[in-house]
Amino acid sequence: MNIAVYPGSFDPITNGHLDIIKRASKLFDKIVVLVAINNEKKSFFGAEERVKMIRDSVKDITNVEVESFDGLTMRYAEKIGAKALIRGLRVVSDFDYEWKLAAANEFINSDIEIVFFMARHETSFISSSSIKELYSNDIDISSLVPISVVEELKKKI
Ligand code: COA
Repeated sequence: MNIAVYPGSFDPITNGHLDIIKRASKLFDKIVVLVAINNEKKSFFGAEERVKMIRDSVKDITNVEVESFDGLTMRYAEKIGAKALIRGLRVVSDFDYEWKLAAANEFINSDIEIVFFMARHETSFISSSSIKELYSNDIDISSLVPISVVEELKKKI
């Protein structure tokens, strides 16, 4: 079985992430969306909230699972027998960061391929931070995120 892990902080998931999950789910037998618990970023939503919002958003895609993990993504990928890690690239400025992350991951395990998806143009300006900023300034973000994110933001802000 060809399993791919899509790691990220997903704080929160956006339609840009969801688009990548949908496209990747057609290429791999199974996608595990992996919410990083302890990365360097301080998260706005707790890990369980982030997992719940993603699960709600992908409930119609049968080959997608959502988990959280505290540790090295590659170690998780090895543990479940994944063949690939997935990352999205939006703009050139993502490249430098992704290049370094990919190099670190490759150093840990070069047998697991890192596969990049180019974000669609219409989602290339979306980021989790911009969603939170737009929402807290009363801008309608319902066309940029899954409905579960709008609901959670309403509860929180
Ligand atoms: N659509 C919308 N937004 C996107 C996107 C897309 N297609 N692609 C990236 N982004 C945005 C995210 O919204 C996020 O925005 P923010 O900075 O405003 O929060 C930003 O790009 C990057 O987020 P994400 O893709 O979630 O990556 P990350 O940098 O938050 O997470 C990990 C990186 C968690 C995958 C990485 O640090 C990791 O694997 N950590 C575990 C430890 C480890 O294994 N380290 C590697 C070896 S040292």
